[in-house]
Amino acid sequence: MRLAVFVCLLAAVYAATSTEGLYDLVKRRLPGHCDGFIFIVEDQARSNSSELANDEYSISTSANGSIAITGNSLSALSTGLRRYLTDVANVDIYWFIDNRLDEVVSPLPRPRDTITGTSIVPWRYYFNTVTFSYTTPFWSWSDWELELDWLALHGVNLPLAWVGFEKILLDVFQSINLTTAEIIPFFSGPAFQAWNRFGNIQGSWGGELPLQWIDSQFELQQKILTRMLELGMTPILPAFTGFVPRALLDVYPDATVVNGSQWEDFPVEYTNTTFLEPSDALFTELQNQVITKQIEYYGNITQFYTLDQYNENDPFSGDLEYLHNVTHGTWQSIKSANPAAVWVMQGWLFTSNKDFWTNERIEAYLSGVEEDEDMLVLDLFSESEPQWQRTNSYFGKPWIWNMLHNYGGNMGLYGQISNVTINPIEALANSSSLVGFGLTPEGQGGNEIMYKLLLDQAWQTTPIDTVAYFQDWVHTRYAGYNNTVPKELYTAWELLRISAYNNTNLTSNAVPKAIFELAPNITRLTGRTGHHPTTVNYDPEDVVEAWRQMYQAATCDPNLWSHPAYTHDLVDVTRQVYSNAFLASYTSLIATWSSSSNSTTPSSLVPHISTLTTLLTSLSTLLSTLPQFSLTPWLLSARALAPPHTPITPIAIADLYEYNARNQITQWGPGGEINDYASKSWGGLVGDYYLPRWQAFLGYLASVSPEAYEHAAAREAVVPVERAFQEVGTGLGMRERGEGGSVREVEEGVVVPGLRELGVL
Ligand SMILES: *[C@@H]1O[C@H](CO)[C@@H](O)[C@H](O)[C@H]1NC(C)=O
Ligand SMILES: *[C@@H]1O[C@H](CO)[C@@H](O)[C@H](O)[C@H]1NC(C)=O
Ligand SMILES: *[C@@H]1O[C@H](CO)[C@@H](O)[C@H](O)[C@H]1NC(C)=O
Ligand SMILES: *[C@@H]1O[C@H](CO)[C@@H](O)[C@H](O)[C@H]1NC(C)=O
Ligand SMILES: *[C@@H]1O[C@H](CO)[C@@H](O)[C@H](O)[C@H]1NC(C)=O
Ligand SMILES: *[C@@H]1O[C@H](CO)[C@@H](O)[C@H](O)[C@H]1NC(C)=O
Ligand SMILES: *[C@@H]1O[C@H](CO)[C@@H](O)[C@H](O)[C@H]1NC(C)=O
Ligand SMILES: *[C@@H]1O[C@H](CO)[C@@H](O)[C@H](O)[C@H]1NC(C)=O
Ligand SMILES: *[C@@H]1O[C@H](CO)[C@@H](O)[C@H](O)[C@H]1NC(C)=O
Ligand SMILES: *[C@@H]1O[C@H](CO)[C@@H](O)[C@H](O)[C@H]1NC(C)=O
Ligand SMILES: *[C@@H]1O[C@H](CO)[C@@H](O)[C@H](O)[C@H]1NC(C)=O
Ligand SMILES: *[C@@H]1O[C@H](CO)[C@@H](O)[C@H](O)[C@H]1NC(C)=O
Repeated sequence: MRLAVFVCLLAAVYAATSTEGLYDLVKRRLPGHCDGFIFIVEDQARSNSSELANDEYSISTSANGSIAITGNSLSALSTGLRRYLTDVANVDIYWFIDNRLDEVVSPLPRPRDTITGTSIVPWRYYFNTVTFSYTTPFWSWSDWELELDWLALHGVNLPLAWVGFEKILLDVFQSINLTTAEIIPFFSGPAFQAWNRFGNIQGSWGGELPLQWIDSQFELQQKILTRMLELGMTPILPAFTGFVPRALLDVYPDATVVNGSQWEDFPVEYTNTTFLEPSDALFTELQNQVITKQIEYYGNITQFYTLDQYNENDPFSGDLEYLHNVTHGTWQSIKSANPAAVWVMQGWLFTSNKDFWTNERIEAYLSGVEEDEDMLVLDLFSESEPQWQRTNSYFGKPWIWNMLHNYGGNMGLYGQISNVTINPIEALANSSSLVGFGLTPEGQGGNEIMYKLLLDQAWQTTPIDTVAYFQDWVHTRYAGYNNTVPKELYTAWELLRISAYNNTNLTSNAVPKAIFELAPNITRLTGRTGHHPTTVNYDPEDVVEAWRQMYQAATCDPNLWSHPAYTHDLVDVTRQVYSNAFLASYTSLIATWSSSSNSTTPSSLVPHISTLTTLLTSLSTLLSTLPQFSLTPWLLSARALAPPHTPITPIAIADLYEYNARNQITQWGPGGEINDYASKSWGGLVGDYYLPRWQAFLGYLASVSPEAYEHAAAREAVVPVERAFQEVGTGLGMRERGEGGSVREVEEGVVVPGLRELGVL
């Protein structure tokens, strides 16, 4: 009896301290309501790591009016908190337009009855390894704070935590007697670290990675991890993959290494990465150090380690025993460093390199991890190219159903509302080793509603009714508590729901790209399918009508012009209208040009050319009205991470960071190896990059007939624009905020007359 009381007391003390992170979240996001909430952890089933439990919360009003949220984990409590805020108080937290929770009314509205919620999966996962390069590389701590609060409130309890890993690798390689000068050339630049961590690339074009980056990112990681833990998340830390600096062979000439394949079209010096075989004792030694170092720096805070050896990179051999040995050796190495370790693997290789990864090979590879529970596979693109069925649920390994949604952080309205609600529920019914739902976007771009939808689905046993879901979204997003929303906004979102957000044609299966973001050409821009489609799988008129409705809403309620969610959404929908209009105009330009001949004058092209260039000029002006649609913050946030006035060779640190930022979203590689992969419809970029690129191309096109057209000549016209944009210090693409006017001024003065003239409206 005594003992039981003692244990309860201890639990109470632990719970009291551990909920502090949630009270701090309330302080940050609802500063007027610090006393308004009571958080109580009832039974810490989750602390028993050997047992996977679903999370549960219950929300009620205590006698003095405080909102009491009880639950069995911190993640349950933070999810319950958001449930209260969205369902009862009608406020939420968002990307781009920031925190809106502080709009909550005083006193806090009381829930009519007790509200309860139970997750249907123990894990809610977040991030793709490459999100750390496409979205977060230049984030400040305050960007991270918002992100982590968003994740906690949306129930995420298993996030990847890659920031600052180079510090660990640097320390570990130094400890085995490689010099700093031998290690640094292995690392890739700030905007490209994800692929270096995967072993796809090595080295940094434009200048070596500065130690300052490594140190400052490491400091950032310490803050991130602390906050993740405070908010009840279990971070997934990196492990040693096997990829090493080439100089390792100078120190250990007998090390068993193989050379990775060439990734994309990268020159050999930047790819062909050296891979130390897991069968080598040195691999185990390095694994031990990588894991131990992290425990030393961060504490023994997780059992989850992310580790990918063959991301878009085939193994040295397809021999089944070899494949088994690789995982077996790797698994043993992790377990010997941390007996509790679970190896988390992105299942992308089985999608991207399907030809190599036959089921037989996958089975051999996965079988090297003899205890199923020691592995967790991320089915990375479950909404479109799931692999779990063909692999019979990864031959018994626990796995997570993920929505990937976009490649390269491309921007386009897009969603698969059916598959994201129906398929994970079906998967749960059909696979006993499914343990979580998650999000694996390459970039955290737009379409936030889709991301919320899947995370909310993790707490519903049946597919969410998206009609009601979109209505609630509109109400909470624009109104807040007690206000009314113009009916046009509901209509607009319903139109988007049944068009852009209801893709069911999986020939094109991710966020579409605007063709003006692609290198101009006379062919192959339209009708692209796959991961960066340019097809429009809905009636473009639906999106035009959604725009009309949205625009109309502000005529009914002009206060909307100062509403951050409204201006964001209106600009986003306008962007899509422009993207679709450009596609149509380009198609008719090509038709006109193709039917011309040596004898017709190019003057017939003039109006078409003028339409295309006007569309881009107007769009750039519109996008530049908001920072989240502008290039400038991306470039300036990169520069801001450099220390002032510390020149390095060959270029200053700030210039190197800016070059990385520019290069990733345009040429993506020293010589345009994956040109335009991570393109963005951003103000400044549209006006100072895509526009001149199209002007150069269209200028050439107007000068030649189809008979005389030469690809090389067209390309030659465009290349100088691409090169010039890589130059830092020119200010190319940097715009003063609001130089073209407010959203309202540009919509009324530029967009409406322009689209009307074009016949779009
Ligand atoms: C309300 O009561 C709870 C105990 O039920 C207490 O923890 C909390 O501090 C009280 N809040 C206020 C504002 O008095
Ligand atoms: C923790 O998990 C182990 C193994 O499943 C189980 O035997 C034990 O009873 C659990 N403890 C608690 C407090 O739930
Ligand atoms: C590193 O070099 C030192 C001094 O030469 C030597 O004592 C040590 O054994 C070396 N460590 C390893 C891991 O090779
Ligand atoms: C890859 O690097 C290794 C080691 O430097 C070298 O021997 C090999 O030739 C390179 N592969 C290619 C294709 O150049
Ligand atoms: C696999 O590992 C075993 C045990 O270490 C070894 O005997 C065998 O040669 C290895 N096979 C291959 C193909 O590497
Ligand atoms: C870290 O914690 C795990 C249990 O989660 C334990 O097995 C391991 O020994 C710990 N490692 C260290 C270095 O404390
Ligand atoms: C909300 O609206 C209801 C009904 O109109 C009203 O009774 C209540 O006082 C309002 N509450 C707040 C906080 O404005
Ligand atoms: C989505 O599109 C499919 C195929 O066109 C259709 O069957 C389905 O009803 C649509 N769903 C919604 C929510 O509009
Ligand atoms: C959902 O995705 C699967 C692939 O897993 C596909 O076969 C199916 O057609 C999709 N359904 C819809 C409604 O998009
Ligand atoms: C799906 O998209 C492809 C490519 O755009 C198109 O060819 C095909 O007709 C579409 N299928 C359906 C059923 O609409
Ligand atoms: C058109 O002009 C080009 C050179 O400018 C010539 O090569 C081609 O034969 C001409 N075509 C016709 C159909 O006259
Ligand atoms: C247009 O695309 C084709 C096919 O991909 C390519 O060969 C050609 O060089 C491209 N032309 C230009 C101007 O980029």
